[in-house]
Amino acid sequence: MLIIPIAPKHVQTLAEIAAETFTDTFGHLYSAEDLNSYRAAAYAHPQLLHEIATEECYFLCLDTDPEGLKPLGFAQLRPNTRNELMRSLGDEYPEPCWELHRFYIRKESQGMRAGSFMMDFCMKRFKEAGVKSLWLSVYSDNVKAQKFYQKYGIMYSGHNMEFPVGNHVDLEFLYTAKFSF
Ligand SMILES: CC(C)(COP(=O)(O)OP(=O)(O)OC[C@H]1O[C@@H](n2cnc3c(N)ncnc32)[C@H](O)[C@@H]1OP(=O)(O)O)[C@@H](O)C(=O)NCCC(=O)NCCS
Repeated sequence: MLIIPIAPKHVQTLAEIAAETFTDTFGHLYSAEDLNSYRAAAYAHPQLLHEIATEECYFLCLDTDPEGLKPLGFAQLRPNTRNELMRSLGDEYPEPCWELHRFYIRKESQGMRAGSFMMDFCMKRFKEAGVKSLWLSVYSDNVKAQKFYQKYGIMYSGHNMEFPVGNHVDLEFLYTAKFSF
């Protein structure tokens, strides 16, 4: 497997895999109207191009697919950002503080260590960048992802958040880690 940086030329592929993996994972929770309005806003090309320009975005691909035309998954690492909750917990979490913004493996590639390969790469990047603390938001009922994060020492912080999808609001857990690489 191969990690490649996502470039602006990949925006359509990113939009497709992001919409597909979000729908496969969470689509059953929402009405078609809420799902469509979320997807239209979150995965619009201008929005994704902004994220490609301001975040570290990576595809996980097969070695035979170095252009990232049919990725197995993708990860978005957001340097030096905090949401309101993380700002309120500032003293607890040292800078540089990054967010694991999105981390998705395609449904047909899950459970075969693809996620582990991509997370090992992310951990390497955090170490190279001298990241001291990390946060992410995970759906409260997404036990599979929570177990996955826990294996990497990214743990439930005891704090909760809300995640709006159209008119629907989900309960999310704040997961965090502090690194001493
Ligand atoms: C969660 C996810 C990233 C894990 O990646 P993966 O490639 O499927 O996982 P791996 O095969 O590398 O497994 C690694 C670990 O994840 C956990 N895990 C994987 N599948 C699991 C399952 N079905 N149930 C519980 N834990 C599971 C285990 O801890 C596993 O380690 P183990 O086999 O030693 O017990 C992936 O399944 C995924 O993208 N899911 C949908 C999108 C999502 O929920 N993203 C997170 C949004 S916050």
